[in-house]
Amino acid sequence: MCEYCGCQDIAAIGELTREHDAVVAHIAEVRAFLRDDSVEDAAKTSRRIAELLGPHTVVEEEGLFPLMAEEFPDHIEALEGEHRQIESVLAEAADGTPDDPTWPARLLAGLEMLREHILKEQNGVFPATLTVLDTAGWERVATMRGHAGSALVPPHGHHPHPRDHHHRLGA
Ligand SMILES: [Fe+2]
Repeated sequence: MCEYCGCQDIAAIGELTREHDAVVAHIAEVRAFLRDDSVEDAAKTSRRIAELLGPHTVVEEEGLFPLMAEEFPDHIEALEGEHRQIESVLAEAADGTPDDPTWPARLLAGLEMLREHILKEQNGVFPATLTVLDTAGWERVATMRGHAGSALVPPHGHHPHPRDHHHRLGA
Protein backbone atom coordinates (compact mmCIF):
# COMPACT_ATOMS: atom_id res chain seq x y z
CA MET A 1 0.00 0.00 0.00
CA CYS A 2 1.02 3.60 -0.44
CA GLU A 3 2.16 5.59 2.53
CA TYR A 4 -0.67 7.56 3.99
CA CYS A 5 -0.83 10.90 2.24
CA GLY A 6 -4.36 11.95 3.10
CA CYS A 7 -5.91 11.27 -0.31
CA GLN A 8 -8.06 8.51 1.22
CA ASP A 9 -9.86 11.19 3.23
CA ILE A 10 -11.35 12.55 0.03
CA ALA A 11 -14.66 10.79 -0.55
CA ALA A 12 -14.13 10.26 -4.28
CA ILE A 13 -10.69 8.69 -3.77
CA GLY A 14 -11.92 6.63 -0.84
CA GLU A 15 -14.69 5.17 -2.98
CA LEU A 16 -12.37 4.40 -5.90
CA THR A 17 -10.02 2.69 -3.44
CA ARG A 18 -12.82 0.60 -1.91
CA GLU A 19 -13.67 -0.57 -5.44
CA HIS A 20 -10.01 -1.46 -5.96
CA ASP A 21 -10.02 -3.43 -2.69
CA ALA A 22 -13.10 -5.38 -3.79
CA VAL A 23 -11.51 -6.11 -7.18
CA VAL A 24 -8.25 -7.26 -5.58
CA ALA A 25 -10.20 -9.67 -3.35
CA HIS A 26 -11.96 -11.07 -6.44
CA ILE A 27 -8.62 -11.44 -8.24
CA ALA A 28 -7.48 -13.73 -5.41
CA GLU A 29 -10.70 -15.74 -5.77
CA VAL A 30 -10.21 -16.16 -9.52
CA ARG A 31 -6.66 -17.39 -8.97
CA ALA A 32 -7.94 -19.98 -6.49
CA PHE A 33 -10.73 -21.08 -8.87
CA LEU A 34 -8.27 -21.52 -11.72
CA ARG A 35 -5.90 -23.49 -9.51
CA ASP A 36 -8.85 -25.89 -9.05
CA ASP A 37 -9.63 -25.81 -12.80
CA SER A 38 -12.97 -24.22 -12.03
CA VAL A 39 -13.19 -22.06 -15.14
CA GLU A 40 -16.93 -21.56 -14.72
CA ASP A 41 -16.47 -19.97 -11.27
CA ALA A 42 -13.57 -17.90 -12.60
CA ALA A 43 -15.84 -16.65 -15.38
CA LYS A 44 -18.59 -15.81 -12.89
CA THR A 45 -16.19 -13.82 -10.72
CA SER A 46 -14.81 -12.15 -13.84
CA ARG A 47 -18.30 -10.87 -14.57
CA ARG A 48 -18.46 -9.43 -11.05
CA ILE A 49 -15.08 -7.73 -11.56
CA ALA A 50 -16.33 -6.25 -14.84
CA GLU A 51 -19.47 -5.04 -13.05
CA LEU A 52 -17.36 -3.26 -10.41
CA LEU A 53 -14.99 -1.79 -12.98
CA GLY A 54 -17.76 -0.40 -15.22
CA PRO A 55 -18.72 2.68 -13.17
CA HIS A 56 -15.24 2.82 -11.60
CA THR A 57 -13.59 3.29 -14.99
CA VAL A 58 -16.12 5.95 -16.02
CA VAL A 59 -15.31 7.95 -12.86
CA GLU A 60 -11.58 7.63 -13.51
CA GLU A 61 -11.58 8.26 -17.25
CA GLU A 62 -14.30 10.88 -17.51
CA GLY A 63 -13.90 12.50 -14.10
CA LEU A 64 -10.39 12.23 -12.70
CA PHE A 65 -8.05 11.45 -15.56
CA PRO A 66 -8.82 14.41 -17.85
CA LEU A 67 -7.86 16.66 -14.93
CA MET A 68 -4.57 14.81 -14.46
CA ALA A 69 -3.68 14.37 -18.14
CA GLU A 70 -2.18 17.79 -18.62
CA GLU A 71 0.49 17.16 -16.01
CA PHE A 72 0.91 13.40 -16.54
CA PRO A 73 -0.08 12.73 -20.17
CA ASP A 74 1.98 9.56 -20.73
CA HIS A 75 1.04 8.05 -17.41
CA ILE A 76 -2.68 8.61 -17.98
CA GLU A 77 -2.51 7.26 -21.52
CA ALA A 78 -0.80 4.10 -20.28
CA LEU A 79 -3.42 3.60 -17.55
CA GLU A 80 -6.24 3.97 -20.08
CA GLY A 81 -4.57 1.44 -22.37
CA GLU A 82 -4.47 -1.01 -19.47
CA HIS A 83 -8.18 -0.40 -18.83
CA ARG A 84 -8.92 -1.47 -22.44
CA GLN A 85 -6.75 -4.60 -22.06
CA ILE A 86 -8.43 -5.81 -18.89
CA GLU A 87 -11.89 -4.98 -20.25
CA SER A 88 -11.31 -7.12 -23.31
CA VAL A 89 -10.21 -10.24 -21.43
CA LEU A 90 -13.09 -9.87 -18.94
CA ALA A 91 -15.57 -9.28 -21.77
CA GLU A 92 -14.86 -12.73 -23.14
CA ALA A 93 -16.75 -14.09 -20.10
CA ALA A 94 -19.65 -11.63 -20.42
CA ASP A 95 -22.11 -14.17 -21.83
CA GLY A 96 -20.89 -17.30 -20.10
CA THR A 97 -17.80 -19.44 -19.66
CA PRO A 98 -15.43 -18.91 -22.59
CA ASP A 99 -14.69 -22.03 -24.67
CA ASP A 100 -11.28 -20.74 -25.71
CA PRO A 101 -8.75 -22.95 -23.90
CA THR A 102 -6.27 -20.07 -23.82
CA TRP A 103 -8.68 -17.83 -21.89
CA PRO A 104 -7.80 -18.91 -18.32
CA ALA A 105 -4.09 -18.18 -18.84
CA ARG A 106 -4.85 -14.88 -20.55
CA LEU A 107 -7.26 -13.99 -17.75
CA LEU A 108 -4.58 -14.71 -15.13
CA ALA A 109 -2.08 -12.53 -16.98
CA GLY A 110 -4.67 -9.77 -17.32
CA LEU A 111 -5.55 -9.89 -13.63
CA GLU A 112 -1.88 -9.81 -12.68
CA MET A 113 -1.57 -6.68 -14.79
CA LEU A 114 -4.71 -5.29 -13.14
CA ARG A 115 -3.21 -5.74 -9.66
CA GLU A 116 -0.12 -3.81 -10.69
CA HIS A 117 -2.32 -1.22 -12.39
CA ILE A 118 -4.31 -0.68 -9.19
CA LEU A 119 -1.09 -0.14 -7.21
CA LYS A 120 0.11 2.34 -9.83
CA GLU A 121 -3.10 4.32 -9.47
CA GLN A 122 -3.04 4.24 -5.68
CA ASN A 123 0.65 5.12 -5.40
CA GLY A 124 0.73 7.59 -8.28
CA VAL A 125 -2.40 9.23 -9.61
CA PHE A 126 -4.46 9.21 -6.41
CA PRO A 127 -1.90 10.96 -4.16
CA ALA A 128 -1.14 13.39 -7.02
CA THR A 129 -4.79 14.48 -7.15
CA LEU A 130 -4.22 16.31 -3.86
CA THR A 131 -2.00 18.87 -5.55
CA VAL A 132 -3.71 18.96 -8.95
CA LEU A 133 -7.47 19.08 -8.36
CA ASP A 134 -9.30 22.15 -7.11
CA THR A 135 -12.87 22.37 -5.84
CA ALA A 136 -14.31 22.51 -9.34
CA GLY A 137 -12.31 19.41 -10.22
CA TRP A 138 -13.65 17.46 -7.27
CA GLU A 139 -17.17 18.55 -8.16
CA ARG A 140 -16.63 17.25 -11.66
CA VAL A 141 -15.51 13.87 -10.26
CA ALA A 142 -18.53 13.78 -7.90
CA THR A 143 -20.88 14.59 -10.79
CA MET A 144 -19.38 11.77 -12.84
CA ARG A 145 -19.83 9.38 -9.92
CA GLY A 146 -23.44 10.51 -9.67
CA HIS A 147 -24.00 9.60 -13.31
CA ALA A 148 -22.04 6.36 -13.18
CA GLY A 149 -23.29 4.97 -9.85
CA SER A 150 -21.39 2.17 -8.17
CA ALA A 151 -21.54 -1.61 -8.13
CA LEU A 152 -20.05 -1.84 -4.64
CA VAL A 153 -22.11 -3.60 -2.02
CA PRO A 154 -22.54 -0.90 0.62
CA PRO A 155 -21.40 -1.70 4.19
CA HIS A 156 -23.69 -1.64 7.25
CA GLY A 157 -26.93 -1.80 5.28
CA HIS A 158 -26.43 1.68 3.90
CA HIS A 159 -27.91 1.97 0.43
CA PRO A 160 -26.31 4.76 -1.49
CA HIS A 161 -28.12 6.03 -4.50
CA PRO A 162 -26.49 8.01 -7.29
CA ARG A 163 -28.46 10.98 -5.91
CA ASP A 164 -26.42 10.82 -2.70
CA HIS A 165 -23.35 11.90 -4.59
CA HIS A 166 -24.88 15.19 -5.53
CA HIS A 167 -25.12 16.53 -2.01
CA ARG A 168 -21.82 18.41 -2.29
CA LEU A 169 -23.01 20.12 -5.43
CA GLY A 170 -26.24 21.37 -3.92
CA ALA A 171 -24.53 22.82 -0.87
FE1 LIG B 1 -8.87 2.31 -10.67
